[in-house]
Amino acid sequence: MSERLSAEHERLGKITTEIIARYARTLGEARVCSEATPAELEKMFDEPLPLEGAEADQLFGRFEREIAPHAMHIPSPRYYGLFNPTPLPIAVWADALSSAINQNGAVWRNSPSASVIESRVLRWLCEIVGYGAGSFGTLTSGGSEANLIALKCARDRAARFVRDRGLRAASLPANRAVNNAPHASATAGNMIVYASEQCHYSFVKSMDILGLGRDNLRKVATDARFHIRTDALRREIERDLEAGNLPVCVAGAAGTTSSGVIDPLDELAGIAGEYKLWFHVDGAYGAPLAMSGKYRDRLRGIERADSVTIDPHKWMFVPFAAGALLVREGGGVLRDAFDITPEYLSEERGGEDVPFDFFRYGQLGTRRFNALKIWFALKTLGVRGYAEIIERQIELTEYFAARVAALEEFECAGEVETAVCCLRFVPPLMRDAGGSELDALQRELQQRIERSGEAWFSTTVLDGRRALRVNVNSFLTERRHIDDLLELLRRESGEALKARKAL
Ligand SMILES: Cc1ncc(COP(=O)(O)O)c(C=O)c1O
Repeated sequence: MSERLSAEHERLGKITTEIIARYARTLGEARVCSEATPAELEKMFDEPLPLEGAEADQLFGRFEREIAPHAMHIPSPRYYGLFNPTPLPIAVWADALSSAINQNGAVWRNSPSASVIESRVLRWLCEIVGYGAGSFGTLTSGGSEANLIALKCARDRAARFVRDRGLRAASLPANRAVNNAPHASATAGNMIVYASEQCHYSFVKSMDILGLGRDNLRKVATDARFHIRTDALRREIERDLEAGNLPVCVAGAAGTTSSGVIDPLDELAGIAGEYKLWFHVDGAYGAPLAMSGKYRDRLRGIERADSVTIDPHKWMFVPFAAGALLVREGGGVLRDAFDITPEYLSEERGGEDVPFDFFRYGQLGTRRFNALKIWFALKTLGVRGYAEIIERQIELTEYFAARVAALEEFECAGEVETAVCCLRFVPPLMRDAGGSELDALQRELQQRIERSGEAWFSTTVLDGRRALRVNVNSFLTERRHIDDLLELLRRESGEALKARKAL
């Protein structure tokens, strides 16, 4: 039986390896995105539930003919999209190894080596952000789940009765006296979380999921370069205290989604400390910058955060999904938030296994052995290898921004602090055009470039106006790709103008 399994893995593995190698070979030249519409793809896959089995070879054929060509080629050096990296080959294959041994990391007994490796990987991630020995964390499906867990920890610290008795219990007078919250005795109001206008949408969703309410996320104003304004933050906190609300958390961004900038984390840590609030850093994208000796200082203060989100599936080039939440005060906080002991998952080894029972530290039950691909990636590149790639990507982005700034028809929006550059196409003839006309022009240019298939990037909104957003994601991207992108921008923007004049 196991001989058959082995032979099947060998056969399928060889075919898969060849497909992946062929796919990788096309990335230099292939269109970055498909031209197919959703309706066309729906038609291609509009098939009844299979009642009889099909040959694997047929399915591999379909993968190569129908699935791969209509994928977004995220691994391409000419993909400049949304924090989605080219995955490291070592991490792709480590992922296959995880699937092959199919560990269930909920409890140590079902994943002895996997759980210990997960714990080790978390230790390394903690070290990267500058946390000390008492820190711990949990791997997550991504930054959204990590931010949710962070806000749950913050909520529980501010009002620990909520976990068991619900939100209303937290505001009852009998509970206030024993609450940990610094302002708990003064409030029956709402629990408030502060983050900048640029915060990721997962904060909004998390407020709802945790019963805190979307309206109680204060989106604090930013400066001209899209960093949270600390004077505005203080004003919001004071206003809430006066109104009888309960401030619970300040969240800073280490790499905002739209423009990749980093909030003044050290200053935020000071304000959070002053008001005794939980301080969270959303470093889903930017936290790996801590591995670069050259740029680490941009994250100063991250080590003072109570919790940090870091996504290895963004700037650590690990295939999806791999996120993490790190907590400075370690496992105790996560255990307080999530621990439970159902009868079928009790201690097996007198408790020595419990620190590795990851179901106790987060919201997941069954958990994939995602730690393995991070372990392989970190062991293969080392901190130095990561630093080299990250620094090269920032330098390429700075090069791109400098070239854009020299073009008469374009302007940069904001600064380059990570590997994101936002820009606008503002031809001299349209300097006086209305905002919505310029917005339409940015969309049109993005669409033209998408249709060309030569590169892909997204748009975003900054200061209420549409902008083009270019992120150097891929470790395959070289200066010649950036030069090609600039040429493409010039060509397609010229065509867009010609088309407008012809109207
Ligand atoms: C700053 C930031 N935080 C959180 C997230 C959410 O991460 P995920 O999509 O992995 O859930 C993102 C996603 O892009 C992000 O940019």
